[in-house]
Amino acid sequence: MLAHALVWASSVLSCRADCAAKGEECLATALDSAASWVQRKVGKMDAPKAKPAQDIDQNGYFYTKRGGDATGSNAITWSIPQDFLKPAWTWSNELDEQIRHSALIDDKKNIYIAGTTRLRKFSPDGKMLWLFEQDEAGNTSPTMGKGVIYFRVGYGKGHNRVYALSMETGEVLFKKTVAGFGYGPDSQSLLLAGGRLFLPALSGAPRSDTGGCDSLIALNASTGDELWSYTTDEVMWNFSPSTPDDGKSITFSSTCGAFTRISAIDGKLMVKSTADVSAGPCSTGGGSTGTLPWGAFSFDTQNYISAYNITTGEIAWTHRVEPPYRSCQYPAVGYLYEGGPLAVVAAVGQIAGKPKLMADDELQRYLSDADYRRHLNTPVYSNAVIALDAATGSKIWQWNEADWDHFAAAGDEEGFARRRLLGSIENDICLPDNQGIPVVNTKDGTVIVSSSHNGNMTVIRDANKNGIIEDNETTAFATGVAFLNGPATAPGMLVASPCWGPMYVFRQ
Ligand SMILES: *[C@@H]1O[C@H](CO)[C@@H](O)[C@H](O)[C@H]1NC(C)=O
Ligand SMILES: *[C@@H]1O[C@H](CO)[C@@H](O)[C@H](O)[C@H]1NC(C)=O
Ligand SMILES: *[C@@H]1O[C@H](CO)[C@@H](O)[C@H](O)[C@H]1NC(C)=O
Ligand SMILES: *[C@@H]1O[C@H](CO)[C@@H](O)[C@H](O)[C@H]1NC(C)=O
Repeated sequence: MLAHALVWASSVLSCRADCAAKGEECLATALDSAASWVQRKVGKMDAPKAKPAQDIDQNGYFYTKRGGDATGSNAITWSIPQDFLKPAWTWSNELDEQIRHSALIDDKKNIYIAGTTRLRKFSPDGKMLWLFEQDEAGNTSPTMGKGVIYFRVGYGKGHNRVYALSMETGEVLFKKTVAGFGYGPDSQSLLLAGGRLFLPALSGAPRSDTGGCDSLIALNASTGDELWSYTTDEVMWNFSPSTPDDGKSITFSSTCGAFTRISAIDGKLMVKSTADVSAGPCSTGGGSTGTLPWGAFSFDTQNYISAYNITTGEIAWTHRVEPPYRSCQYPAVGYLYEGGPLAVVAAVGQIAGKPKLMADDELQRYLSDADYRRHLNTPVYSNAVIALDAATGSKIWQWNEADWDHFAAAGDEEGFARRRLLGSIENDICLPDNQGIPVVNTKDGTVIVSSSHNGNMTVIRDANKNGIIEDNETTAFATGVAFLNGPATAPGMLVASPCWGPMYVFRQ
C-alpha cells in the first residue's frame, strides 16, 4: 500500500490538469480496494442470454444523463449517422456559454442542452422550443424522466438548488434548495432512479478543499423532499453515480478507486472496498456500473483500471494502463458489435493544461506554427482509447490519437484572453479531461471517441477484427473545439456538443 503526500492544486479546475500532466504526483491506492462491478458483469456474460446495456430508459428516452443512462454504460444499440460532412443543423452558442455536458435526448428526439445558467430545448429539426434561465452557475449534467427534467445550480454558494421543469413547457414544477452541501468545480451528474433524484454534493468536511464531491443527497423526485444524505471519506471526481438494479442501490468509485455501494432506500452502506484515501485525490476517473461495475483509477506512478464483484467488493481483474497514458475518465461498457465481446472501453491519456496568455498576433503564430510552439517548449500530450475484454481485462485493441503539442485544449486557448477580460460567469476555460466517455455502439460495431485535446470526434471500427485499428478504420469530424463530454445519440441521430460550441446535430 502506497501513501505519499499528493501535490494537488486546490484552485478551481486545475487539479485535473495536475493529475494528468504530473502523473508521478498522482496518488496511490490499495489494490485490494473496491467493489464488484466487473464481477457482476462476468456473471451476466456467462448466462445464456447476456443482457445488453440498458440504453433506453423506462420512459423510452434515449440519452438521460452523463454516461447515457442510469448505469453509466454509454453503450447504445441503434444505428446512427456515419457521414459527418454536413450537419442537419447547428446551434451556434451565440452567448459563448460553456457546454460541459452531452445533450439529453427524449423519446421524440427533442434535444435538451445545458449551459452554466441556462437550459434549452430544441425540436429534432432545430427549433428552440423553450429556454429556462436563472442567475446561479451550475456545472452538473441534468437528468430527466417521467416528463420532468432536473437542472442543478448553486455552484460556489454552498448549497444545491434543483429545478424540476416540465419537459413539455419548461415551466418550474418545483424548486428545492438543500443547504449545508456545496459541490466541486468539476462535472458531476444527477441520477434519477426508482422515484428518487440523487445529487452529488460536497459536505463541509475536511476534504472539501480538494474539490470534487464526497456526499450523495437523495430527494423525492416528485416533491423535492430530502430523504437522506450519505457522506463518505473519499473524493469522487466528476461524480456520476449509477445504479446496477433499477434504483434499489447506488454504486460509485472514488478517485483513488474505492468502490462503494449504498442502499437507495435509506442511504445505508452495503459494500465498500478499501483504498488509501489519505493519498488522494488520485485521478479524475470514476466507475461505471449497471451491467458492470468497475473503477478507473490512478495508482502512484502506475495506473490501473479495475473490475470488482459488486456483491463483495472483491477485485475481479486489474489492467495496468501503460505510460504516458493515464486512466482519467469514466469507462464505457458494452458489446463491441452484435455477437461480439462485452468490453470495457476506456479513454486513457493526459489532460492538457492551462493556456498561456498571449497577445493576439502571437497567439495566431502559436496556433498556426508547430515550430514556434516547439520553440516555446509546449508540452506534448498523448491520448488513446483501449477496448478491454470485460471478463478478463485483457486488451482487444488500442487506438492512439495524434499527439497534441499545445499548452491547453483547443478552444480554451483561442478564447482565453477574451473570456478572462469579460470576467464571465462562464469561466475563462473549460479545462476538460483527456476525452469524453467513449460511446460503444453495438449495432454499428463502432466506438465514438471525443477528443479533449484537438476537438476531433473519431468513429472507430475494427472492421477486419484483427485487433489493430488501421487508418482506414477511423473517420473523424473536426470541430476545432475540445469536448468535455462526448456525443449523445438516438436512432438516426447524433448530437455533438464541444465545450464552447457550436452544437452539431447529424441525422440520417
Ligand atoms: C460475487 O461474489 C458473490 C458472493 O461471493 C458470488 O456469489 C458471485 O458469484 C460473485 N460474482 C461473480 C461474477 O463472480
Ligand atoms: C414521494 O412523495 C410522494 C408524495 O408524498 C409519495 O407518494 C412517494 O411515495 C414518495 N416517494 C419516495 C421515493 O419517497
Ligand atoms: C485497410 O488498410 C489495411 C492495412 O493497410 C488493408 O489491409 C485493408 O485491406 C484496408 N481495408 C480497406 C477496406 O481498404
Ligand atoms: C481531425 O480530423 C480531421 C478531419 O478528418 C483530420 O484531417 C485531422 O488529421 C484529425 N486530427 C487529428 C489530430 O487526428
